[in-house]
Amino acid sequence: MATVRRLQQFGETVFTGITELARIHGAVDLGQGYPNFDGPEFVKDAAMDAIRAGRNQYARMYGERVLNEEIARRFEKDTGIAVDPDAEITVTSGCTEALASACLGLIEAGDEVIVLEPFYDAYVVDTVLASGVPRYVTLLPPEFRVDPDAIRRVITDRTRAIIVNTPHNPTGRVFDREEMQAIADICIEHDLIAISDEVYEHMVYQGEHISLATLPGMWERTVTCSSLGKTFSLTGWKIGWAIAPPPLTAGLRAAHQFVTYAISTPLQYGAATALAAGDDYYHDLLVAYRERRDVLVTGLVSIGFEVLEPQGAYFVYADHTPFGFVDDVAFVEHLIREIGVAAIPPSAFYHHAGDGADFVRFSFCKGLPTLEAALDRLGVLRL
Ligand SMILES: Cc1ncc(COP(=O)(O)O)c(C=O)c1O
Repeated sequence: MATVRRLQQFGETVFTGITELARIHGAVDLGQGYPNFDGPEFVKDAAMDAIRAGRNQYARMYGERVLNEEIARRFEKDTGIAVDPDAEITVTSGCTEALASACLGLIEAGDEVIVLEPFYDAYVVDTVLASGVPRYVTLLPPEFRVDPDAIRRVITDRTRAIIVNTPHNPTGRVFDREEMQAIADICIEHDLIAISDEVYEHMVYQGEHISLATLPGMWERTVTCSSLGKTFSLTGWKIGWAIAPPPLTAGLRAAHQFVTYAISTPLQYGAATALAAGDDYYHDLLVAYRERRDVLVTGLVSIGFEVLEPQGAYFVYADHTPFGFVDDVAFVEHLIREIGVAAIPPSAFYHHAGDGADFVRFSFCKGLPTLEAALDRLGVLRL
């Protein structure tokens, strides 16, 4: 019952409410984290070709060979780690299912899981679904750095895993080498599993993306989760993957087999074509996102927001307190109803809602005209 209650609490997420309110008020939507532009034609063509070629029956349980091979190739190019595409890669329904299957397959009842907050809400639900117990460590403003001492303070003899997300939603932090090494040291010292959510791995504007699995002693204890959706503006395809050594892969596949069994066959062919894209694709993606980031950050600062410039991902985490609202929910309601711009109140990303009260999350995975229209409307707040 406790699990059911927790799920009810998270099931009615703030997102449904915000999207509906935004629609009613005709707000420019900088709320949800999906692009308002389409994915690349060559990728869509590859999926349509696969459908026409009759690739329409169940896929292999852990992924179509061609996709597993492309994921392995890309992972080796990015991290230097050569993985076995069949034994160490599992294709999942988005990163969401990779995270869920990792938790369901690797967390035992009563195990404690460290979650850094503000968190992507699935981490807590996945932990609870697996009958685990979330233990929270708050990344504190203004810099939202990982504090190893704060992590050490929540470790007990029941601690089994830590879930890490870099580049980070919603703060835009890209954890630096010192922070990542500190996490790795703690994992090794306390024999923890790391579940590493790297969906924004190709959106880094400052610093470098460090895959936790690349740090010495970490490959054998890390499940690296990522997906196609963010990098290829195809969030609706829900093609993701988990990369992990065989003992961890065995656990997560035990769950995957019964959660989804297999993932859309033709879309896996499209995904394989996407991942074979050359460096130009990734370069152009970054150039476009950097411009969107700069437009939004400059605009918000000129209006009076206090902004932590995002180092990665596609969100701006802004302090709204200069405008005098009581909390994030009151501020966002005002934005939607009176100003016509939707954003996310981040108290939903903390276990103590008050910890997010001073902030608002804007997404910049939107075309420049959308960002400019939003800034135009937000201009009435100008201090
Ligand atoms: C940090 C983070 N992880 C995972 C996901 C979900 O990824 P997918 O759409 O591939 O399931 C998101 C989507 O917003 C996200 O922000």
